[in-house]
Amino acid sequence: MDSPSGSVDRPEGVLEGVNADSLAARHGTPLQVYSANAIRNRIRSLHAALQGLDALVCFAAKANSCHAILNLMAENGVGADIVSVGELERCLRAGISGSRMVFSGVGKTEAEMSRALECGVGRFNVESVDELDGLQRVAAQRGLIACAAVRVNPDVDALTHAKISTGKAENKFGVGMSEARTWFEQARQRPNVRLDGLHVHIGSQILDLGPFRQALDRVAEFHRELVAAGHAITSIDVGGGLGVCYREGHDHPPDVAAYVEVVRHALREFRGRIVLEPGRWLVAEAGVLLTRVIRVKQGEQRRFLIIDAAMNDLLRPSLYEAWHDIVAVRQASGPMIAYDIVGPVCETGDTFALARELPECQAGDLLAIKTTGAYGTSMASSYNSRPLLAEVMIDDGRSALIRQRQSLDAMIAGEVTSPQWISA
Ligand SMILES: Cc1ncc(COP(=O)(O)O)c(C=O)c1O
Repeated sequence: MDSPSGSVDRPEGVLEGVNADSLAARHGTPLQVYSANAIRNRIRSLHAALQGLDALVCFAAKANSCHAILNLMAENGVGADIVSVGELERCLRAGISGSRMVFSGVGKTEAEMSRALECGVGRFNVESVDELDGLQRVAAQRGLIACAAVRVNPDVDALTHAKISTGKAENKFGVGMSEARTWFEQARQRPNVRLDGLHVHIGSQILDLGPFRQALDRVAEFHRELVAAGHAITSIDVGGGLGVCYREGHDHPPDVAAYVEVVRHALREFRGRIVLEPGRWLVAEAGVLLTRVIRVKQGEQRRFLIIDAAMNDLLRPSLYEAWHDIVAVRQASGPMIAYDIVGPVCETGDTFALARELPECQAGDLLAIKTTGAYGTSMASSYNSRPLLAEVMIDDGRSALIRQRQSLDAMIAGEVTSPQWISA
């Protein structure tokens, strides 16, 4: 980096001494960059906090499904939480075995469940009785026993953004304790499903451990009740959700040891396997999005910084009005100026920040949008026919392209230019 090292505002943490300008020059912008070491460090500290527990960390592949990231998880002993057959196939190709995967989601089709059974997926987190019956059907067809957990909805407010809050009774996720109870009571009716697990996930970007503790306490109480009724529970999956810092000095995510301590305390009477499904916490802070200023535009009321990244590259600000710290890569002196930082997409919602203070910028300047390693490229699209962005990994002073920028041909592949009409 050209800027002085040690400044908390610079993106050195991710770029680790690799020159951002040369990366941007080599690969173009917008460019998503990850630090492999930052991800390894997160995995290491989570594993250290879990020491002594029979725990399996399953990375929520939705947070980042790029092959190299999933491969890093596999190499460091992390399994996967998947929600589609697409994620299943990606994880298999990246070296994560089916037995180290849990399959979540409200809309698993029987075809997806069947393929997952074929691949030996370790556990199905079941979210409705219809799904449970479907799992019984496909497991019987294959002559297999499916291991399953019921995803309970604890009716707890995770105190996060409404769109990523999943643990309230009004949400589509999981089932209430009373319905879950009947599933266990009727277990004999589904001989190809071994229902011996509990699962809970109350939401994402959790900064306050209170609701997480409350949800786990409810699960622990339910566990005690099930055991007393004679049901064997061998696995409790506590979901994901641990939050990260998107805004320096404002977001104060819990320490991972404190988070694990909540799990240890709530499940102190449980002797089986504990599954964790972190997504964001493992990868978000390991990523920055490099983007160039296309032009500065002085509007009638506001000053716009128009950059070459857009909502199709990083949807979170548009979708959740999420804050991301944004810094100029080169340290500039002089007064700070308030810019509305916007992309080129033809929507007013294509806005990364309002009245954000930066040193005076001009066309060609390189900016870094921070904390973009999770729910960035995995939510990217080619809206406005903008190709999917390139991705690069940094590892010990080296860099490697891990996803090519999408070509025009790849973007339109699959579109039929001369439709063959058939009568309905
Ligand atoms: C079932 C489940 N597990 C885990 C996660 C990962 O959450 P996070 O990335 O906040 O850790 C999600 C996110 O939506 C989820 O739905």
